[in-house]
Amino acid sequence: MEQNWGVIMPEKESKDVKVQIMGAGAIGSLFGALIQLSGFSVHYVARGRQLEALKENGLTITGLIEGHLRVDVSNRPEEADLTIVAVKAYDTEGAAKMLSEVDCGITFTIQNGIGNVEILSKYLERVVGGVTTYGANLVGPGIVNYAGKGVVYAGNDGYASEEAKFVKRVLEKGFNCELVDDISFRIWSKAIVNAAINPLTAICRVRNGKIVEVEELWSIAKAVVKEGVEVLKKIGLPETDFIEMVRDVATKTSKNRSSMLQDVENGKKTEIDFINGEIVRRAEELGLEAPTNKILLKLVKGVEKAYGIIE
Ligand code: PAF
Repeated sequence: MEQNWGVIMPEKESKDVKVQIMGAGAIGSLFGALIQLSGFSVHYVARGRQLEALKENGLTITGLIEGHLRVDVSNRPEEADLTIVAVKAYDTEGAAKMLSEVDCGITFTIQNGIGNVEILSKYLERVVGGVTTYGANLVGPGIVNYAGKGVVYAGNDGYASEEAKFVKRVLEKGFNCELVDDISFRIWSKAIVNAAINPLTAICRVRNGKIVEVEELWSIAKAVVKEGVEVLKKIGLPETDFIEMVRDVATKTSKNRSSMLQDVENGKKTEIDFINGEIVRRAEELGLEAPTNKILLKLVKGVEKAYGIIE
């Protein structure tokens, strides 16, 4: 599908291009900082203690880059040329509704989980899918640790859209960014890896490496992947060696505490519904079964309820 977006994206100077970060948590703050350092104007949308800290003290970056930035932050989205959505997947619908009330430009999601592009597209027109393997964690309000370089994939299915090219233009100075025309497959791939690693680490309270080191956990992880692959095949997305992919990610990040483990430890709701939960939902829709994903979904929900994180 060829579209002409030339009119809405004139060749502005970088400093005149306004980028908005919808959800200035760990990964959102890292993206904001690296984009700001690349010379673009950035507006951050945050809430709670993060909002207060960013307003009062600005954003501090530690880890691979050390520094401090003054930031433009509020609790509402504004007009922008590009909005990067980095809220937790269970907040996508709320974020999309807020964004639909302003001219937020192109929307680019870097969120975890399956279904974010679809939810955003219900409310917004120019949505670009994304996947990132950059590592970031919040050290405290207003302080983000840049933990690891990775890659950012941006694109739409089947074609290199003008919107995706604009995303690349904004990201290419600060990130290793690749344009792709199979973004649904990339999103599913990351979700299957997350489905195999995250719930097990959160339930067993272990770092990623244990998923491959402990035989019992590895056998569950493989079963999760196999069920995900069956769904993928039925949807018509390509297959690849996901078991090797999980082994590789868990080995390379063996010392990491997964995002889901961190959520549970911090008393925060997890994204389980959009990872294993989506695999179960899609499997059932397609007449398949995903019993291992289903039991992990129940266990993580059980942990959330038992610890008073959700009701
Ligand atoms: O969600 C996460 O924590 C990460 O994507 C990964 C690599 C699966 C675990 O650290």
